[in-house]
Amino acid sequence: MRILMCRPDYYAIEYEINPWMKKERQADHKKALKQWEGLHKTILQCGAQVELVPPGRGLPDMTFAANAGLFYKGKVILANFRMVERKGEVAYFQTWFEKNGFDVVNKPGVDQNHYYFEGAGDALVANGKIFVGYGFRTEIEFYKTSHWIDPKHTIICELADPYYYHIDTCFCPLNEKQAIWFPHAFSEKSREIMSKSIELFDVDAEEAKRFACNSVVIHKNIIIPSGCPKLYEKLKKIGMTVHPCEVDEYIKAGGACKCLTMRLD
Ligand code: ARG
Repeated sequence: MRILMCRPDYYAIEYEINPWMKKERQADHKKALKQWEGLHKTILQCGAQVELVPPGRGLPDMTFAANAGLFYKGKVILANFRMVERKGEVAYFQTWFEKNGFDVVNKPGVDQNHYYFEGAGDALVANGKIFVGYGFRTEIEFYKTSHWIDPKHTIICELADPYYYHIDTCFCPLNEKQAIWFPHAFSEKSREIMSKSIELFDVDAEEAKRFACNSVVIHKNIIIPSGCPKLYEKLKKIGMTVHPCEVDEYIKAGGACKCLTMRLD
């Protein structure tokens, strides 16, 4: 497995674009760097390969590489951010993908779909299906009009709670057949559709708030935010190796382990 990350050199809470972010609750830069390094090391120990994209000055959220784009069927579908504060990241990510030989689509000024799409933060693949979120950032029309994602394999999920504004904050596939989720974050209709598409294990409100669903799965390993003991037990019972990871400085920006990574295969 190949994963893209971006060092948090310019990471800070400089604006408020989701309910978690409060400028007066600033991230501690030293701690944030240590936590990112801890995550990076754990990912390597779990056997994945990590690529690094150089961070862009003045782009504090670029460390959340999940939003760069989505690797899907051999292509990178570049993000088209809803948030103006993050639009500047696209050029940096695009340059890196192209330099590294990726087939990049959804490029500004070339073939960009004009609907918003926030990358792998809003699209997760499992069991030959792609679970996509909409409601706060990505627009449902993106999935309906983009020819890079086959609608036959798409499970469209409506996000219903502004604290869980990307699908990767409240849903996480564990393997081809099973996933964890925070059901409250989805509309009733979407809950029903999702339940029919994959076996789901509930995360409670307390651990959802700790970003339990924002985890990185590498084979049988799950790298998961610290402070979610109930879920750890459940995951161990189904044969997973649990790696709790301290990411509190990133929760302040509305992100955690998974948001800091983007899968490249
Ligand atoms: N502050 C960032 C934002 O609001 C956090 C992004 C979290 N990324 C994710 N994939 N959930 O855009």
